[in-house]
Amino acid sequence: MKQKLKVLIIFDVPERPTSTDWSRHFRPEDWKNELDIIQAVKKIGHEVRLLGVHDRIRPLITEIRRHPPDIVFNLLEAYVNDRRHESNIAGLLDLLNVKHTGSDAATLSICRNKLFAKRILAPHRIKTPRSVVFPLGKTNRSLKNLKFPVFVKPLGQGGSDGIAQKSFAEDTPACLERVRFLHDHLKTDALVEEYIEGREVYASVIGNQRLRVLPLREMIFTQFPEEKPKFATFKSKWDDSFRRKWGIQNIFAAPLPNGMEKKIAHISRTAFRALNLRGYGRLDLRITPENEIYVIEVNPNPALTREDEIAQSALKAKISYPRLLQRILWLGYQSQ
Ligand SMILES: Nc1ncnc2c1ncn2[C@@H]1O[C@H](COP(=O)(O)OP(=O)(O)OP(=O)(O)O)[C@@H](O)[C@H]1O
Ligand SMILES: [Mg+2]
Repeated sequence: MKQKLKVLIIFDVPERPTSTDWSRHFRPEDWKNELDIIQAVKKIGHEVRLLGVHDRIRPLITEIRRHPPDIVFNLLEAYVNDRRHESNIAGLLDLLNVKHTGSDAATLSICRNKLFAKRILAPHRIKTPRSVVFPLGKTNRSLKNLKFPVFVKPLGQGGSDGIAQKSFAEDTPACLERVRFLHDHLKTDALVEEYIEGREVYASVIGNQRLRVLPLREMIFTQFPEEKPKFATFKSKWDDSFRRKWGIQNIFAAPLPNGMEKKIAHISRTAFRALNLRGYGRLDLRITPENEIYVIEVNPNPALTREDEIAQSALKAKISYPRLLQRILWLGYQSQ
């Protein structure tokens, strides 16, 4: 790889941009991912250009023609604010024959549909919660094969959208109420899963062929009443005052039972390969009191701010933030 790359960093913006002065769009609280990455990629010494995408593709194609990048740092998670189109942008970059960071279109869309991801993981004997899908507008699916309590979430959203205390349902009426809520308010299919009681652990992985599982992280709930179920809602991830109130912290995983870390690393690598992730990813796992490991989600494009799990895990493995991003660029550059 050349020392100095032309890196085009692309990201989604909530409205059609009226100027290309991106600094005007970036309020630090909402644009942490972009700001941290831009700063670090510049600091590495690469030549950086930026492009925000909302509802038009032509500016992206024009930018790539006029200023051919060595690689695109793909931070786009939505198109016209719709996460279902995330994968199409990676597909477009492949059609344009431009190298890019992260996974390709197929992996992005399979991982976004949590049911498809489960089906791919199942033959590898990776446990995922048993589930039933309630397609948009349908509430007549049978729940008789699921054990309560259950957890109700959007089938294909991400970013913790639609995940709240009411996602946890102890009986059929509560479950159906949440299903209807997701149908009505998020206009999405609902995935009802058996609720997996236990510790919440995050495994970050980097690599293409050779995969490295970074030190595990864990979300802990220090001020929650003992009997209250503990899981990561939108608020428990993003709302600082909520986190303070309930003593929610993300830490390096407290000691795990013997051999568990190895098992998690094996599961993480197997899932990464089975779903054909590229460059980097993060698995969200739950570990039951009986020491069973469940994969809750495979994220092919987890957030990459300095504070996020993958950056923290990398730091613990003595990989500085700029080195992590350099590695992600290199893995993207190498893999096409
Ligand atoms: N079946 C389940 N059993 C127990 N907890 C669950 C289950 N499914 C989801 N959760 C909880 O909800 C959180 C969010 O779920 P999930 O990761 O599937 O959604 P997401 O919106 O894709 O999240 P992210 O913010 O990681 O993109 C999990 O981290 C976990 O705490
Ligand atoms: Mg998740």
